[in-house]
Amino acid sequence: MGANGDRVLEALLDGVLVIDGAGRVETLNAAACRILGLSAEAARGRSLPEILGGPHPAEELARRVLRSGRSAAASDLPLPTGPAGPAGEAAGRIDVSASPLFDDAGAVEGCVLLLSDRSLRQGLAERDRERDRLVAFGRIASGIAHEVKNPLGGIRGAGELLARRAGDPRTREAAELIVHEVDRIAGLLDQITVFGRGDAPVFARTNLHRVLDRVIELVLLDPTLAGSSVERRFDPSIPEFLADAGRLEQVFLNLARNALEAMREKPGVLTVVTRVAFDRHLSLAGQSLPAVLVEFRDQGPGIEPGRREQVLLPFVTGRPEGTGLGLAIAQYWVTRHGGLLRIGGRPGEGAVITVELPLRNRE
Ligand SMILES: Nc1ncnc2c1ncn2[C@@H]1O[C@H](COP(=O)(O)OP(=O)(O)O)[C@@H](O)[C@H]1O
Ligand SMILES: [Mg+2]
Repeated sequence: MGANGDRVLEALLDGVLVIDGAGRVETLNAAACRILGLSAEAARGRSLPEILGGPHPAEELARRVLRSGRSAAASDLPLPTGPAGPAGEAAGRIDVSASPLFDDAGAVEGCVLLLSDRSLRQGLAERDRERDRLVAFGRIASGIAHEVKNPLGGIRGAGELLARRAGDPRTREAAELIVHEVDRIAGLLDQITVFGRGDAPVFARTNLHRVLDRVIELVLLDPTLAGSSVERRFDPSIPEFLADAGRLEQVFLNLARNALEAMREKPGVLTVVTRVAFDRHLSLAGQSLPAVLVEFRDQGPGIEPGRREQVLLPFVTGRPEGTGLGLAIAQYWVTRHGGLLRIGGRPGEGAVITVELPLRNRE
């Protein structure tokens, strides 16, 4: 296969395995390596049962195709355990199809197995739904924000006038309260309009660690978050990539604040981890790209699995003084970067918020 064909194979989300007539692996792409949990070198020349980690319906399927010369498919099979045994995130399901390869004389000389990872597909479909939902929410929210904001200027002006002209202190205090609360509402509305304007990120070469350093410095300066400490576990090999540094700062600031707020009662350590995941592919602007992972691990009470979807929604807060906008805004900008925001962490062990961003280094 030419260089171009190799690029196509490597860009696929589906695993492709080329099997020879004797049932041995001739070649496989990156997605197949990820699904099976092994390297291409380790797989080449080995038999199917060896790389699938034992008997598996996919092997039976391949044998049938080699024998009959006709394509076959099977869906919702268990994920093969691979030679290394079950992976950490076992219990995945795959769909498998197999097609024969013929030589010039028309005899079957091998077959191609296509493995498609159901959980990955579901994840991508979820991401699309999520984006649609945020766009719809954004339209409504910014429409309301705009309408509510219109009369605020007038109300604030009237409040100031009353405060200046008030004869008695109680009336003046009440008028000042109006001005103060109007300012708070206006601030909130400014945050909400983020969703609706549909602003796209402005991509430029970005040094991820510089952004994270600035965020960490900022949260450590905030006296209301004092007590806990921050540990950096950065992968120094992460290159600069195209991102909107200002928006990412907003994302990370929200995640760092949340983590430190969660540890207010019982101070602990916020660990910020960065790494490149070459086996996680994100697609952006027609390119399939490795992902940069940024994790915020705290030692607070964590987020119950049943609440993880909810807290991403705007206005869902668990704090008396919260707005419930932090995670929603963070997810919004991560999604607009072509990335994913995931909430994890084992119950009772603190929250782990993971931001995955595509490592894009050219337009
Ligand atoms: N690291 C965390 N640990 C525990 N709970 C969290 C964490 N991050 C977010 N949450 C929960 O999710 C809610 C929503 O967070 P967010 O959207 O930032 O809004 P806000 O911080 O204004 O409440 C928080 O009120 C809190 O209950
Ligand atoms: Mg918050």
